Amino acid sequence: MIFREDLLQGQVALVTGGGTGIGFVISRELARHGADVAITSRNPEHHTQIVQEVEALGRRALAIQADVRDPEQTQRVAERVREELGRIDILVNNAAGNFLCAAEQLSPNGWRAVVEIVLHGTFFMSKAVLPAMKEQGGGAIVNIGANYAWLAAPYVSHSGAAKAGVLNLTRTLAVEWAPYNIRVNAVTPGPIADTEGVRRLMSDPKTHKAVLDTVPLKRLGKREEIAWAVLFLVSPAAAYITGHNLVVDGGMWFNHRMFRPEV
Ligand code: HXC
Repeated sequence: MIFREDLLQGQVALVTGGGTGIGFVISRELARHGADVAITSRNPEHHTQIVQEVEALGRRALAIQADVRDPEQTQRVAERVREELGRIDILVNNAAGNFLCAAEQLSPNGWRAVVEIVLHGTFFMSKAVLPAMKEQGGGAIVNIGANYAWLAAPYVSHSGAAKAGVLNLTRTLAVEWAPYNIRVNAVTPGPIADTEGVRRLMSDPKTHKAVLDTVPLKRLGKREEIAWAVLFLVSPAAAYITGHNLVVDGGMWFNHRMFRPEV
């Protein structure tokens, strides 16, 4: 245990895409530290395991089938979480979509699918929880970014543009919603093991090695390492932190190969 077991005692967290990958581990860690946890996922097959894990930790769990691209559905999600778990203290906008495709080949629908899940979904879900957080006198939102979002993002133009938008939205909402005592931050992962993202983007061994060569810490991250960053940002330790982007990528984003032929 990195943090105290009762860090989030009495709080309710909502994690989009919380049934798989990084979202799954974030949900489990939030529960392990005392929060009741609701998740959304489009695929009901992704609901069972996380509900079991959260309940096994002695916390209440709620899984809701929803597509974050649809503002009516995000609205319904927020209402159900309030009805069934009583409040919403934490929102983690984690749901994402991605696939490798050269911009030249990317269809309008392919572009739209990723930008809508990542950017529209983050905005719609954040707005949907706003009334609950306002009434409760505060809350914490964490948006999951991607470390290629402020450099060029070749072959993931949709995701790069959407995640860059999420980062700007993080800062804007941090300013606009600070008067409500709602803090809005981002956690930006690099390549993380046991995730759909790495499976999709780094399945080719040559790409895998080339990416790892650019990571100063020389390994993939662990899903828990993203969850711990989220825990920090939603905890009282980060009470004066808002609009921040916490990069958790082994130093990859600022590394470059200039003058270093050995890497
Ligand atoms: C080209 C593709 C494609 C591919 C889908 N499309 N996959 N185009 N190459 N591999 C196109 C389709 O042809 C279609 O366009 C359009 O995208 C929408 O596809 P649908 O399957 O109808 O969309 P939908 O069911 O909404 O699925 C959304 C999705 C899907 C993003 C396309 O892959 C998905 O749901 N993924 C969720 C999980 C995920 O991607 N997780 C990884 C996140 S990783 P046309 O024109 O044919 O209609 C991440 C950071 C990783 O964010 C960082 C790692 C280092």
